[in-house]
Amino acid sequence: MQRLFFTGKGGVGKSTLAATAAWQLSQLGHKVLAVSFDPAHNLGDIFGRELSHAKLAFTQHLDLQEADLEQSAEAYIDRSIGVLSDVYSYTHAFNLDLYLKVLRYSPGVEEYAALTALERIVIDDTGYDYIVFDTPPTGLTLRILALPSITVAWVERLLKLRRQILQKRGTIHKLSGKYDEEGFKLPYTERDDTVLHKLEEMHQRYRTLNSLLRGADTHIAVVFNPDYLSFRESERIVSGLRELELPLRSAYNNKVEDENEEIAQDVEAKLFTNGARSVPIQRVPLQPPQREGSYAMPVDITAAFV
Ligand SMILES: Nc1ncnc2c1ncn2[C@@H]1O[C@H](COP(=O)(O)OP(=O)(O)OP(=O)(O)O)[C@@H](O)[C@H]1O
Ligand SMILES: [Mg+2]
Repeated sequence: MQRLFFTGKGGVGKSTLAATAAWQLSQLGHKVLAVSFDPAHNLGDIFGRELSHAKLAFTQHLDLQEADLEQSAEAYIDRSIGVLSDVYSYTHAFNLDLYLKVLRYSPGVEEYAALTALERIVIDDTGYDYIVFDTPPTGLTLRILALPSITVAWVERLLKLRRQILQKRGTIHKLSGKYDEEGFKLPYTERDDTVLHKLEEMHQRYRTLNSLLRGADTHIAVVFNPDYLSFRESERIVSGLRELELPLRSAYNNKVEDENEEIAQDVEAKLFTNGARSVPIQRVPLQPPQREGSYAMPVDITAAFV
């Protein structure tokens, strides 16, 4: 199964290319899921259908879906609250309601919610040949794709600290015969420690997701237009992906026409000059206005992934 991500500045044509790719791959007989991660959810408009988090069979070979980001945010918050109340059940001073409010509006919740939804799709939806993701503009997408490796690095630090804490508790236990606080017995062995188990489980999950995202089955494409603003943004994507060791596999120079041909050539020549391994760039011409409900562009864009 291949996963395709179209990244790029707002308005460059990510949703249009994602829809086109999904449609064309399904027409080649592949089983395809096109899923929107953009809270603006244009994918449904492109296909002329109301999408929800339940899959809609658009054709026999193409399912459409909107990732349920709100539900994922709730699930993430619930899980965090669950961990907090498990871990701190011995202290009465801890105001969980306040933490619930703080968590809900904390930076990163949106990204983790998207990551939870992404994880669910990547791990569970194995019945497709291709999953095409319609992603939100660059910043959020890069942050979502960065999260698994950042989380793995953090969790490794936390695991080390946790093991040190358990070791110290063990020493105190040996010396005093007991170590408790307000009647709650704190675990001092790795086997009994829920926190350590939760960290180990997180470590495993994010490592798996990280290696899936970096693997040969992930195809990240950058979309830009023949203008310098979208080009600068695509340069940032190229270097951001390189830092994250995520695979950029193709680029689309979208909306090219006679008037911007010169700029189109210039940005293509410049895109991979900063030491990035170059990837194939496909030009997609500016199309005349489409009739309503025409969801795929009449240009074959599948060469990079079939
Ligand atoms: N090759 C093309 N020729 C003509 N119009 C195009 C082309 N590609 C995209 N468009 C038009 O450009 C507009 C923006 O496209 P689209 O919504 O796909 O961009 P996006 O990158 O997904 O935007 P957002 O960042 O808002 O999600 C749409 O009106 C779309 O129809
Ligand atoms: Mg879009």
